[in-house]
Amino acid sequence: MTYNHHSTVAVLGSGKIGLAFVKQILQKTSYRVYATGRRSETLKAAESLGALALRDNNLAVRESGIVVIAVKPFHFPQLLSEVEPESWKGKIVVSLMAGVKLDTLRAAIPGARVFRAMPNLNSYVGFSSTAVAENGYDDTSRTVEEFLKIFGKVYWVPEEYLDIWTGLAGSGPAFIAEIIDAMAMGAVAAGMPRELSYEAVLDVLEGTARLLRSRLYQHPGQLRDDVTTPAGTTIKGLMVLESGGVKAVLMKMVEEASRRSREIGEEINLKILEKIRQR
Ligand SMILES: NC(=O)c1ccc[n+]([C@@H]2O[C@H](COP(=O)([O-])OP(=O)(O)OC[C@H]3O[C@@H](n4cnc5c(N)ncnc54)[C@H](OP(=O)(O)O)[C@@H]3O)[C@@H](O)[C@H]2O)c1
Repeated sequence: MTYNHHSTVAVLGSGKIGLAFVKQILQKTSYRVYATGRRSETLKAAESLGALALRDNNLAVRESGIVVIAVKPFHFPQLLSEVEPESWKGKIVVSLMAGVKLDTLRAAIPGARVFRAMPNLNSYVGFSSTAVAENGYDDTSRTVEEFLKIFGKVYWVPEEYLDIWTGLAGSGPAFIAEIIDAMAMGAVAAGMPRELSYEAVLDVLEGTARLLRSRLYQHPGQLRDDVTTPAGTTIKGLMVLESGGVKAVLMKMVEEASRRSREIGEEINLKILEKIRQR
């Protein structure tokens, strides 16, 4: 996609993920960016990244070709009431809201081409793993794919996977951060300084991801076995891991996060549809 100076993106909701998007768009493209928020603190943060920060969601939508919805799902009904239905017409709308279904989005925003995506906070450094619900493959979806690639990798998936994706990749950076912290603390407990321990874990994480992506390994279990010398250090550590039931705990962690995403979706979709009926 060629980015021209006349292209404008609106990011509605300049919170954690909204600002990550604003930062990458402004760093990598020549899009103009309208970024909205309610508090002056939010607007200042967006402005300091180079966005045109404003409270007027209607103006931001009207002036833009691509509109990113980055407010919390329960703030969406309020946002809807602030934008005139006419303003959405002909726009490409990319919703990042957890749980809000495509059908609900289409009913809420008629006249726009709506996409539902789930990125993660790694967008901030351009390493998001973003899933987008399959929605026909045409010029518009290709534009959306190119747009989302600004923030990292893009996967088209059936919409039914999006809640699972939210529990795996959306929440994933938090889960991985906890695991990294725990391993670094283990090294501190064994007597190594925190900073050095932390750097080492980050290196191991990055390197292991690369190694697993190389052609050498078909499955993580193979790598584990290669590192595990009989009666060596690794098997002793693995025994502790197994006795703590850590693998089952991590599996349940993702399953439970996915379940909660579905549950939020069920609650919020009803509320949004109710709001639309009142219009
Ligand atoms: N955080 C993540 O890792 C992540 C990953 C994937 C998807 N998401 C999705 O992205 C959305 C935002 O998440 P977040 O973590 O970035 O939340 P957040 O930090 O709370 O940001 C939400 C932002 O929306 C703004 N906002 C609320 N109502 C508004 C309105 N009517 N007009 C304009 N701005 C409004 C808030 O601004 P004020 O503070 O000024 O009120 C706030 O800055 C959620 O739907 C979430 O499901 C988040």
